[in-house]
Amino acid sequence: MAQSTALAGIKVLDLTQFEAGTSCTEALAWLGADIIKVENPDGGDQGRSASTDQSGVDSPYFMLLNANKRSITLNLRTSRGRELFTEMLKKADIMIENFAPGTIERLGFGFDAVHEINPRVIYAQIKGFGPGPYENYVSFDMIAQSAGGSLSLTGTPETEPLKPGPTIGDTGTGLHCAIGVLAALHQRQQTGKGQRIQVAMQDAVINFSRIAFARQALSGEAAVRSGNRSALGTTAPSGLYPCKGDGLNDYCFIYTSRAGNRHWDRLLKAIGREDLIGDERFNSPQKRWANHDEVDRLLTEFTRSRTKREVMQTLGDAGVPAGAVYDTLELTEDQALQDREMIVTVDHPERGKFTLPGWPVKMSDSHVDVDRSPLLGEHNTEVYAEWLDLTPDDLEDLKSQDII
Ligand SMILES: CC(C)(COP(=O)(O)OP(=O)(O)OC[C@H]1O[C@@H](n2cnc3c(N)ncnc32)[C@H](O)[C@@H]1OP(=O)(O)O)[C@@H](O)C(=O)NCCC(=O)NCCS
Repeated sequence: MAQSTALAGIKVLDLTQFEAGTSCTEALAWLGADIIKVENPDGGDQGRSASTDQSGVDSPYFMLLNANKRSITLNLRTSRGRELFTEMLKKADIMIENFAPGTIERLGFGFDAVHEINPRVIYAQIKGFGPGPYENYVSFDMIAQSAGGSLSLTGTPETEPLKPGPTIGDTGTGLHCAIGVLAALHQRQQTGKGQRIQVAMQDAVINFSRIAFARQALSGEAAVRSGNRSALGTTAPSGLYPCKGDGLNDYCFIYTSRAGNRHWDRLLKAIGREDLIGDERFNSPQKRWANHDEVDRLLTEFTRSRTKREVMQTLGDAGVPAGAVYDTLELTEDQALQDREMIVTVDHPERGKFTLPGWPVKMSDSHVDVDRSPLLGEHNTEVYAEWLDLTPDDLEDLKSQDII
């Protein structure tokens, strides 16, 4: 039986590359939209060759961001290529791109041109920066994270600003863009018209950095890097506690609410220190903050002789917020994550078995099984037949002219 999906029948012309754009269309693919990657015949999405270990073989980076999409090649620098794309736009619901500022206009498909071809098309663009002094600048994740505040918040006052591990400048921007696209689809039901959506990577990172502005409001100064301690400087424990084992990640993060003593009292019980419940040094978040070193010493006594999994389980069972520091390999091997398709293994024609994270949004009436990313131009025959009624002979002809 075919599975139902939330975005069944929604057709997306996807001109995205690398991560900021592809993560947007990845989200839409996993919500059920039909994503057609329209790629430069000369190498395709630049992410295909980014950080690949084998020339001509798609990179794992690309494979992580382009599951469940179809790929066609189309040279938009040729007039025939532009004609074909124009015909496809007439049948599309959404077009998304994240080229450098000015590129899509040079190719002839800026918002005004596309709106003229098909006013129903929802037209989404991701750039590094919004209108202002940087609007013509190119960008990547770490540029957005620098200019959007997150580097200034990561590390400790003693370290230089640090690049956060997760790529919120890229995937964070793609997800913001997907929210705009979904809202525009809803609005189109009332108006019958598409609209332009623009998301700047810098702006998306500022949104992720939102809570740091509370620190600024409280102190009147720029928010500082707080390491693992409570960013607002108002409670303890908040920290990484060393556990049994000598691995790089043998730690457990333990945090208790700023809102009172409930978690703290449970924590004391769980580590066998009920005697300290109500102790003057620790009986409010502010006092624990003032005695953070002592709090850390107490907890380390407990964690040192237990593995991070034991610590997480004991504290989690006791109702205390605690998280073992898991690395990508541990996550990959986690049975519960596999069972709920947060970790999925697919078969790729060039790379064989490939494991990737799935989609975290679980819906009762919409499900897409994770499938592998497409090879460059893999779906030329079927997509050009479906969308434009082109035959294999037509495609041979287009290929001989370097149009596809
Ligand atoms: C990512 C980025 C830095 C790459 O910069 P770049 O490679 O110098 O510039 P572009 O992405 O515009 O280059 C794409 C080129 O491929 C060409 N191209 C793309 N698709 C094509 C197609 N189907 N047919 C023919 N040519 C195509 C473009 O015309 C362009 O070449 P041109 O500049 O000579 O016109 C830049 O695109 C950017 O800043 N994007 C916005 C922010 C962003 O999303 N960053 C990526 C985060 S992961």
